[in-house]
Order: sequence, then C-alpha cells, then structure tokens
Amino acid sequence: MTNQAIPYQELARRAAGARKRAYAPYSGFAVGAAVLTSDGRIFDGCNVENASYGLTVCAERVAVFCAIADGASHLLALAVSAVPVAWPCGACRQVLAEFADSDCLVIVAEDEQVVATATLAELLPHAFAASALTSRMPGP
Ligand code: THU
Repeated sequence: MTNQAIPYQELARRAAGARKRAYAPYSGFAVGAAVLTSDGRIFDGCNVENASYGLTVCAERVAVFCAIADGASHLLALAVSAVPVAWPCGACRQVLAEFADSDCLVIVAEDEQVVATATLAELLPHAFAASALTSRMPGP
C-alpha cells in the first residue's frame, strides 16, 4: 500500500474514538491509537493505567496487540490521538518495529485532526530487530 492509499483521516478518527475510552485516572492524559494491517483492517486501543503505575499500557501497544491477537501479522500505519499531540514513546516504537517495516507511517493527531506524520525509520533509527538474534537461535 502506498502512502497515498493510507487512510490517514479514518485512522485518526478511529484513534480519537478509542481515546474516549482511555482509562487514565492517574495521569489524566487520554490517548487513543489505531493501526492499519496489511490485509486492510483497522484495530484501535486506548491507554489503560493501573494503581501500580508501572503496569500501565500505552494506547499504541493495546492497538498493536489487539491486531496481532486477531491474527494480523503486518502493520502498515499507526495513528495516535492525544490533546496536545503526542508521538509514540520509545517502548511503543520498538513494539511497532516488531510487526512493521521501516516505512510504516506514524500519524499524530490532535483529537482527530492530523498534525504530522513520520516513518518508523525516522522515529526509531537503527532499530533492534530479530535479525540480530539469528546466530543465537536454537537449531533444529
Ligand atoms: N501514553 C500513551 O498511551 N501513549 C504515548 O505515546 C505516550 C503515553 C500514556 C501512558 C500513560 O497512561 C499516560 O499516557 C501518561 O504517560
């Protein structure tokens, strides 16, 4: 799918919709995310906080894990909705890199208004990847 074919606005709308379901009583910072899979589906997610703060999961990871759990294997784009806008944190960039190519499009939106885009390579240069582990994989 070329960048022109990425449904930016639909992804931003889905991310903004998911943001309304954020469970963020501790930070008060509601985030929504939506991912586009290579088979054309969109999955969304919101941040889910916990009284044990470190157990909080970002909206982006919830969306990615929902897609993978439903059988998707490859992601083409990710939209994030927050007010004010927020780029994905480092942990979420690494998780996205597991399931996406370096040209995966990351879209940031203020509520549902697209504000900026970047490729995953721009956000996570020199990503750590499974290829680094090949020599350590157990043989047959
Ligand atoms: N958060 C996200 O969901 N995504 C981001 O990209 C940055 C941070 C959440 C985690 C936490 O619930 C709140 O925002 C404040 O850090």
